[in-house]
Amino acid sequence: MAATESAVAEATATIAQLATIDVSDPTSHSDIIRKCNSVASALQHPGALALQAIASAADFPALVVLNDLGVFQKLAEGPLTAIQLAEKCGADRWLIVRLLRVATAAGMIQETGPESYAATPTSNILAIPSFAAGISLSHLSAKIIYSLRTYFKETQYRNPRNYLNGPFQSYLDTPLGSFEWLAQNEETRRDFNLFMTIQRTRGQHWTTNFNIKSRILHDSVPINPDAPLYVDVGGGLGQDLRLVKAELGDVSKGQLVLEDQVSTINNIPTDLHDADFEYIPHDFFTAQPVKGARVYSFKGVLHDWPDDKALQILSHIVAVMTPGYSRVWILDGIVPDTGADKVLAELNLCMMAWYGALERNREQWGELLGQAGLRVVGVQTMDDGFGLIEAVLER
Ligand SMILES: C[S@@+](CC[C@H](N)C(=O)[O-])C[C@H]1O[C@@H](n2cnc3c(N)ncnc32)[C@H](O)[C@@H]1O
Repeated sequence: MAATESAVAEATATIAQLATIDVSDPTSHSDIIRKCNSVASALQHPGALALQAIASAADFPALVVLNDLGVFQKLAEGPLTAIQLAEKCGADRWLIVRLLRVATAAGMIQETGPESYAATPTSNILAIPSFAAGISLSHLSAKIIYSLRTYFKETQYRNPRNYLNGPFQSYLDTPLGSFEWLAQNEETRRDFNLFMTIQRTRGQHWTTNFNIKSRILHDSVPINPDAPLYVDVGGGLGQDLRLVKAELGDVSKGQLVLEDQVSTINNIPTDLHDADFEYIPHDFFTAQPVKGARVYSFKGVLHDWPDDKALQILSHIVAVMTPGYSRVWILDGIVPDTGADKVLAELNLCMMAWYGALERNREQWGELLGQAGLRVVGVQTMDDGFGLIEAVLER
């Protein structure tokens, strides 16, 4: 059955709008992609879309096996045939062909002819070690998420809100929280920390997008030279603090602080060490050792914690903030009320599965910060829903 008349009319109107957009302007690209997707959905047979949703169960497992075989790295070195790939990977030619059909249909790899393949910009990104680590880590995520069916049957379809008693514990049969489990499972922890070093923004770095230099230094508040400028709480391997440093320019030792768990700080590879950073192993459920900093930043941290735990974490920051000077920055997803980005919607389920936590909408962030004794003074979001929320002490 062809698309309905109204679907054709809708697609025609959207195509007409598309013709008026300046494609050479990068700021228009998100809108163009949204419109093209809406044309594709309008014209696609609903049954085909439904079948696609079902058959997509095979997509991620295929990606995992291709990653294990190192196919993305091998293609990054030049085009290859199925026979050549099979030889280089130590795999059966027909298996390679079948797996690669999924990747070529998804546009991840280019099919240059029968059984002939070339890299694409996407497959070259997937070949980078931090993305390869993300695929490995997500294999565990996928297994936990697939177990949700059983988990929800057993728990009467309650929304998980407990860090220590949720899908993660149920699937792995462990009493440990995810971060405590990661601390004991070296290989997965390495994948986790490496994956976190990817920059999740599309286009500009968040530090540029949110104009952080002027927010930190030029906000009509005299800077206190005796307190750090920026404390990255749960800052991982320092991936974001390096961006902050690049944006601020001149910084002296002690102005930029990286805090994370002992198991993370002690395992930062030497090539990622920065002599200008202060490294503090710190459990954010205990008293904050750095007092009166200009910014306490939580990037991709509070979405890992349900409200009760997030409030405990924030309480230790509120206790050391200088009124009228210190700010809390939340850098995280801010789910819009309608039209959530697909990746953000999927991450929301990952946060639920791993931590009994969530991606919050604006109202949920406001409530959480209000309960912590903080007042939101600014919110800025990017196209993919990633945003910066600035908050100050309420009192
Ligand atoms: C999702 S990662 C985000 C890392 C980094 N901020 C980023 O955006 O890439 C969460 C971070 O919180 C850290 N973390 C978890 N529990 C912690 C705790 N109790 N104290 C300090 N850091 C913790 C983890 O080690 C990890 O680096």
